[in-house]
Amino acid sequence: MKHETIETNAGWLIVLTLLVISVAGLVEIVPLYFIDDTVEKVEVDGKETVRPYTPLELAGRDIYQREGCYLCHSQMIRPFRDEKLRYGHYSLAAESKYDHPFQWGSKRTGPDLARVGGKYSNEWHVQHLTAPRSVVKESIMPNYPWLVKTDLEYIDIADKMRALKKVGVPYSATRQEFDNNVKRFGKEIAQELDINAAEDNLIAQAESKNYDGERDNISEMDALVAYLQVLGTMVDFSKFEDGHFTKFR
Ligand code: HEC
Repeated sequence: MKHETIETNAGWLIVLTLLVISVAGLVEIVPLYFIDDTVEKVEVDGKETVRPYTPLELAGRDIYQREGCYLCHSQMIRPFRDEKLRYGHYSLAAESKYDHPFQWGSKRTGPDLARVGGKYSNEWHVQHLTAPRSVVKESIMPNYPWLVKTDLEYIDIADKMRALKKVGVPYSATRQEFDNNVKRFGKEIAQELDINAAEDNLIAQAESKNYDGERDNISEMDALVAYLQVLGTMVDFSKFEDGHFTKFR
């Protein structure tokens, strides 16, 4: 059939348009019915280890987005041999289930960051973000010297957690939700996910870990490094047999 025949015949046009839309719709909608089977269950000793970000990590993630780090860095290791050799185990769906929006990205001017957590020390990150070429001579990454000098704004951190809770991230606001999180993640993590303690938790984590190496303030660098250091660390692959996660694919 010539395209002109379709374009000049409203009946055909309507029927074929509906057909195209329904097929495309099915392709998008049907997988949602299987989502519970395809997002991996990651539990060790009956507790989920993939957890939402702590308030400080969450604040760091916002800085990551504000600075446009995703324009050069992906966070998605594909299941190919070369990627596995370079970056580690391929990314699981479960690992980004609490990310809104996802940071998978599509552009790798710099390396993938999905498993950068724990790869370098905090000092390395601070030095690298402040002046990348002072540690990697040939780097083309921009300098971010203001991060360490700028105080972190966290007055709205509880509101951000509340917003994420609306889209399904299990931060807790009530006693019952808190108890539920204790069952799912254990007590220590449940406390970090408590919206009512958001600011206190943020301050406590920044002060105890002191990511930027400066004691006197909580800087944007503290938050960003806290975020980078948790990336890809929530699944301990040594606890699962080889091939365990392939059954979810
Ligand atoms: C213009 C592109 C560009 C932007 C924007 C960018 N980076 Fe990079 N990044 C790179 C390149 C290229 C490298 C590899 C060379 C190096 O280590 O500096 C890199 C390396 C890194 C590494 C080390 C990764 C590893 O496994 O060795 C980290 C961590 C990192 N970047 C974090 C960030 C963060 C956080 C931001 C945002 C504040 C950012 N980058 C913005 C290009 C970029």
